[in-house]
Amino acid sequence: MSQTNAFGAPAADRPLHSLAIERRVPGPRDVSIEILFCGVCHSDLHTARGEWGQRTWPIVPGHEIVGRVSAVGEEVERFAVGDLAGVGCMVDSCRTCASCGEGLEQYCENGATFTYGSVEKETGRMTAGGYSSAIVVDQDFVLRISPDVDLAATAPLLCAGITTYSPLRHWNVGPDSKVGVVGLGGLGHVGVKIAAAIGAAVTLFTTSPGKADDARALGASEVVVSTDAARMKAARGTLDLIVDTVAAPHDLDPYLRSLRRDGSLVLLGAPPAPHPSPAVFALTASRRSLAGSNIGGIAETQEMLDFCAEHGVTAEVEMIAMEQIDEAYDRMLASEVKYRFVIDIGSMPSAV
Ligand SMILES: NC(=O)c1ccc[n+]([C@@H]2O[C@H](COP(=O)([O-])OP(=O)(O)OC[C@H]3O[C@@H](n4cnc5c(N)ncnc54)[C@H](OP(=O)(O)O)[C@@H]3O)[C@@H](O)[C@H]2O)c1
Ligand SMILES: [Zn+2]
Ligand SMILES: [Zn+2]
Repeated sequence: MSQTNAFGAPAADRPLHSLAIERRVPGPRDVSIEILFCGVCHSDLHTARGEWGQRTWPIVPGHEIVGRVSAVGEEVERFAVGDLAGVGCMVDSCRTCASCGEGLEQYCENGATFTYGSVEKETGRMTAGGYSSAIVVDQDFVLRISPDVDLAATAPLLCAGITTYSPLRHWNVGPDSKVGVVGLGGLGHVGVKIAAAIGAAVTLFTTSPGKADDARALGASEVVVSTDAARMKAARGTLDLIVDTVAAPHDLDPYLRSLRRDGSLVLLGAPPAPHPSPAVFALTASRRSLAGSNIGGIAETQEMLDFCAEHGVTAEVEMIAMEQIDEAYDRMLASEVKYRFVIDIGSMPSAV
């Protein structure tokens, strides 16, 4: 075991604070990573504030991790000391079920081991995420990061990037597609960039009129303020696929009605309470589908990172120090982040 500096929530109603955690002794297949940057996902906030239910405390969030390899086990072939490395939302899975066999570890039928808040197989302790100075991960769940990219701006791709890339691929978005993105936050702004890089025409739906210019600059060809009834009506029946990244319950029907026949509305946002809809007729009227999607598999995450490096896609980031995290959560809740906070892990206070 090695003591590691971290920052975590001691309980749902308490601010995050500095703490020391134990990282496991690296095994022969493990990669030890010194963390440089960690993105701040709204899932971190949902979890740290107990919005997704009972948890084992403390919680050390963070699953958009970029760092440098500090040690490798004797069986590790894909990484060497000094390499850049990424870790996303998962650090292990059963590796034997049908989903794992298809590279869909995020749908592991025996339960994937998530980067924080899961039981670590090797130790039986809770996994702790990227709000920490170092992490030890099996090589199969470590991603390669190009040395040519902006590391801080690449960190958010490890969750926001793959969560939007995976449904765009699954639903076969291409240059002829018309794609809607709901919400211009961390996921949404990366989703706009990736869909535009694929060549799709992108419509951004937002509750924040002040984000319209940014959305166009990021690659959206249309911006619809969702409170504008006339613009919402004009959008009806126009889109092939919509990815909905909103972190709070809302009426889904206007988005379903924005789909063409056979279109799909894919829910990515995971609010703590249910949405008040859909109305059946919004689905039946044009044989539409309502679906959901969870992050993406490890191979697909590498494919996404390579795609983004090739197309120059990174997140728009605001760097924060570790101790600013609660303030960052509050600003994220107020839709004030443009468009992803990234923690400079070099600012981590010492608790060891
Ligand atoms: N499915 C998955 O695998 C997966 C992966 C990662 C995250 N998530 C979930 O996806 C959601 C979004 O994550 P994120 O990190 O992108 O969050 P975020 O940065 O806070 O963005 C959410 C956006 O939703 C819009 N929004 C509209 N009404 C809102 C409201 N009442 N409260 C909050 N947001 C509202 C805002 O955009 P406008 O200002 O443009 O309206 C906001 O910027 C979260 O629920 C998160 O847990 C799911
Ligand atoms: Zn996330
Ligand atoms: Zn499995």
